[in-house]
Amino acid sequence: MKKTTNIAVIGFMGTGKSAVGRVLAERLKKGFVETDALIEKKAGKTVYAIFQEEGETSFREREIEAVKEVSSGKNQVITCGGGVVLNQINVDRLRQGSVIVLLTAVPETILRRTLADEHIRPLLQVPDKMPRIRELLKLRNPLYRRAADITVSTEKLDVDAVVNRIIGRLRKYEGFS
Ligand code: S3P
Repeated sequence: MKKTTNIAVIGFMGTGKSAVGRVLAERLKKGFVETDALIEKKAGKTVYAIFQEEGETSFREREIEAVKEVSSGKNQVITCGGGVVLNQINVDRLRQGSVIVLLTAVPETILRRTLADEHIRPLLQVPDKMPRIRELLKLRNPLYRRAADITVSTEKLDVDAVVNRIIGRLRKYEGFS
């Protein structure tokens, strides 16, 4: 049986994927890769510029390519953009070699964190962000839940506590015991 050595971190914008993924990789002595950073490197422009100049469909195609590339790697924490679950092929590819960890937070926390973050989220560039967040969450929550092996709320825990909780739950998976 193939050993699972990757951890894919998924979840909505503002659930703490980057911060948690980075610390998780350090703690488990694994590589760390972010699909958005890989997309930006390959495109030579920011995610925001890709959305502006090429549109969301083109970004999703680039995301599929990035997930394909990182899925073939081993021993790494892969932090994915919030919309990665929109294409089932991404979930299928991640699942092949990764335990999939879903991070969650309530809409109010997502709004607070995304407003505080200097990262520009193209999908949240609307005057009234709360209804947009709720609408996207409603659409995506079933997809996140279906993809996830492990789910951790980042609501009341700091980054280290979230990482500890993930590590505790990883033990039952092949390659992490
Ligand atoms: C997106 C989330 C972003 C980025 C892009 C689209 C989404 O990543 O991939 O703006 O569809 O939720 P983060 O979740 O890291 O903000």
